[in-house]
Amino acid sequence: MKIIIRLILLAVVSVSSVVLAASNTMLNDAYTYSNYDQVITTHLYLDLDVDFDQKSLSGFAELTLKWLSNMPQPIILDTRDLVIHKVLAQNNQGEWQNVHFTLASRDDVLGSKLTVEPQFKAKKLRVYYNSTDKASGLQWLSPEQTAGKKQPFLFSQNQAIHARSWIPIQDTPSVRVTYTARITTDKELLAVMSANNEPDTPRDGDYFFSMPQAIPAYLIAIGVGDLHFKAMSHQTGIYAETNILDAAVAEFDDTQAMIDKAEKMYGKYRWGRYDLLILPPSFPFGGMENPRLSFITPTVIAGDKSLVNLIAHELAHSWSGNLVTNESWRDLWLNEGFTSYVENRIMEAVFGKNRATMEQALDAQGLNYEIAELAPGDTQLYIDLKGRDPDDAFSGVPYTKGQLFLIYLEKKFGRDRFDQFVLDYFDSHAFQSLGTVNFVNYLKANLTHKYPNIVSDEEVNEWIYEQGLPSYVPKPTSTAFSTIDGEISAWLSDKRQLPQLPTANWTLHEWLHFINNLPLDIQAKRMVELDKAFNLTHSTNAEIAHAWYLLSVRVGYEVVYPTMAEYLITIGRRKLIVPLYKELAQSAQGKVWASKVYKKARPGYHGLAQGTVDSILNK
Ligand code: BES
Ligand code: ZN
Repeated sequence: MKIIIRLILLAVVSVSSVVLAASNTMLNDAYTYSNYDQVITTHLYLDLDVDFDQKSLSGFAELTLKWLSNMPQPIILDTRDLVIHKVLAQNNQGEWQNVHFTLASRDDVLGSKLTVEPQFKAKKLRVYYNSTDKASGLQWLSPEQTAGKKQPFLFSQNQAIHARSWIPIQDTPSVRVTYTARITTDKELLAVMSANNEPDTPRDGDYFFSMPQAIPAYLIAIGVGDLHFKAMSHQTGIYAETNILDAAVAEFDDTQAMIDKAEKMYGKYRWGRYDLLILPPSFPFGGMENPRLSFITPTVIAGDKSLVNLIAHELAHSWSGNLVTNESWRDLWLNEGFTSYVENRIMEAVFGKNRATMEQALDAQGLNYEIAELAPGDTQLYIDLKGRDPDDAFSGVPYTKGQLFLIYLEKKFGRDRFDQFVLDYFDSHAFQSLGTVNFVNYLKANLTHKYPNIVSDEEVNEWIYEQGLPSYVPKPTSTAFSTIDGEISAWLSDKRQLPQLPTANWTLHEWLHFINNLPLDIQAKRMVELDKAFNLTHSTNAEIAHAWYLLSVRVGYEVVYPTMAEYLITIGRRKLIVPLYKELAQSAQGKVWASKVYKKARPGYHGLAQGTVDSILNK
């Protein structure tokens, strides 16, 4: 009798916990069609051939499924511009069957929902398909568009919702998969992925990959080109075309030191190797944190390590983002705000406090300018995307406002307590996704309520849910920058001549602060004088050139235009080109000029950059 009661009790308890688990899995990500509350993918096998002539990946994706629902349900996958040939499903006996599928019409933001309807709880699905030249997540470059000019190049950029344009998948950061892949391509080319790249793999056009740590779809990545490898340390190395390989190795050889410092602060690096893939200049971002293999723009190879915070940033994602992941794109600030904070801590640990503070101050000033221009709703950390394409809502807010919030907490609670909090946060959420609401609960339980009367709930809510910046926002100040402010006014009031400014010792950061803080009513002759003295128009540092061109457009210093045209045609990194196009489009004349340049530049840009610039110039 007792045993029976116990059994009944057990049954009741386990049924209710199933119900609970199901109701906990609310669909918080509005950017996937998938029914990931009913069935989830746990492993992905990709078998793809890379066809540069057709600009197509073709083969199949095999998804291993785990059912959360008791009854068989239709399986819904995300796709965009894929051609689906057939779908097979595997039953419990291991038999494969052809199954019925429907591909819905294409939504501009979400793509086409693929519904597969086996009449049983399939263990695996095999989708035979090919991607097309429209794939928003792939850029296919002709040999002429590469550094070496001899071989073509392909790279992917999945974040935020572009995985679906080359893989039929549950494309949400709330679902994680391990993956394996077989990629075939031309013998002369090397394929790499966000997986276990073997530096000495034979170059035979037939490559295998395995990614044993579970990751969301936006972190699956591929690069194919005339790539070569050079080690920087036992754990780190570079894949690049040969003519930039050595420069990249010299630029980024602090990567191992960055890993070592980050591990001391935030716990073990859990991904094995950490390599960098240097992409052609059309890569639309500075970097992308694809696990084990960050994708990096060549525009940060400045020759003096002045822009290596980008590496610290992508590396930092190995904790914030890749290990602990935002559950939806509304929560991007959890990825990028934490990463910007960790990036800066790594920079401080490797390069010292002065440099780290200057980088904070530059970003904080940039954020202030940006907030003044943004729609008020887009200045919230927990942003309401309102069905927009998440790419269109991209701004510095999740990055720098997020970072300032964490700096605020660090200052309030002290570094020891705050570092412990962040370490525990990464550890307790490792390989999981969470959203803003769950984060706030965790923050309260483990920091703001644990040490009460330091930061109030109202303050936390203001940071996360309200627009703009709180009145008590930290203001990073660099004494080096204050000195430069003094130099600017001394020069402009003729108390000091240009050659007397101590520019020989200025770092990149001081130069940027200097250029960004020159007045917009600066006289033309002063611009000429600056250019004569420092040749800013021909700066080989992509950030200095950007800042100088932006100022030049604003103040009408047209000497820069031919060089700026060259810059806009060779670089496709959105952060460097978009502000220039925006500024040019402010005047009718500028817009005409920009359109002419864009005509030449557009074919070399990535689809994402084309989309952004098209809308600025109304193309
Ligand atoms: N993950 C981002 C790039 C991204 C964000 C792509 C959102 C698509 C949607 C990457 O880590 C990043 O932030 N890159 C920055 C680095 C910079 C802040 C140091 C970039 O590309 O400029
Ligand atoms: Zn980032």
